[in-house]
Amino acid sequence: MKRIRSAQPRRALPGRAELRRPLLRWFQAERRDLPWRRTREPYAVWISEAMLQQTRVETVVPYYLRFLERFPDVRALAAAEEREVLTLWSGLGYYSRARALRAAAQAIVAQHAGALPRTRAAWLALPGVGPYTAGAVLSIAFGASEALVDGNVQRVFARLFALEEPQGSKGLGERCWAAARELVPARDARGTPGEWNQALMELGARVCTPRAPQCPRCPLRAHCRAQAEGRTAELPRARARRAMVAVELELYAVQERGRVLLVERPDGGRMAGLHELPTRQLAPDDARLWPAELSAGLALRPGAELGRLSHAITHHRIRATLRAAQLVARRVPPGVRWVSTAELDGLALSGLAKKALELVATP
Ligand code: ADE
Repeated sequence: MKRIRSAQPRRALPGRAELRRPLLRWFQAERRDLPWRRTREPYAVWISEAMLQQTRVETVVPYYLRFLERFPDVRALAAAEEREVLTLWSGLGYYSRARALRAAAQAIVAQHAGALPRTRAAWLALPGVGPYTAGAVLSIAFGASEALVDGNVQRVFARLFALEEPQGSKGLGERCWAAARELVPARDARGTPGEWNQALMELGARVCTPRAPQCPRCPLRAHCRAQAEGRTAELPRARARRAMVAVELELYAVQERGRVLLVERPDGGRMAGLHELPTRQLAPDDARLWPAELSAGLALRPGAELGRLSHAITHHRIRATLRAAQLVARRVPPGVRWVSTAELDGLALSGLAKKALELVATP
């Protein structure tokens, strides 16, 4: 039978040992001292990995420390009010992660007697847990020989093995997972699989960066196909970008005796449960994150402009005008309430609301 050649024939990967020794040695010497690297306690590793998805290390550090202080173990998180979890997450974005984390903690208490699972299948059955998180916790906390792939690892592998599929594509994902499974070290007493996985991510974050990779400093340079072929700037190939949507908002600062009027976003929608200033979306009509009019029963008289804000939420580029406003009717509808300055700290605020409140507070 004639074999059909794929566009890109499979090549043997460089030997595991050839890559492993230099990368692990580099990681030993160069690893950043991060709070979650001082422990292999599974709960702490899990929280850090959940926060690190889609979010930069520098941003995560203070959130991680506050979260662990308030919810030091899985039972504390399972028992928490969703509102409080969201408050501690406020500013990290992708709030469904925070809700799923709490739901997963409840499942761990109910189904695993509060012990973090040790198998991939049990992790994947938990809310919000995908192959990345399962691989990260099992390898880093439990030393299991489990692979992982995130955006950093995809970039490292795309260059190392000259993979042509575009970044974020299913094809690149599959090839990277196959490579990751092939390369991940066997379990040993030193926890090498977790070290290996972290070293790959660290290399992507620190050396094999999206722009201007620092190839002369790279421990895998001698094995890198993109480097050998002078194609590091070209790989991984960019994927067709989702078009940015320009969103125009008007935000209203209604203040009275040291209090400000905030609206809680409704259940079930985006950013559910977060608080924000009363907001109207002026444009566009076909991509709505906010209604065109304020919620029923909230009648405001707009006043002077207080400032302008820019903000980004996934592929929405938001420009907002902040206006002072007065309440026309004394009664406020459900979901709208007066919040004192002292209360603000304990409230789950949207990222945009945080920016707006800084402007309100600054004379
Ligand atoms: N990105 C996400 N998790 C990480 C980890 N444990 N080490 C380095 N980079 C990461």
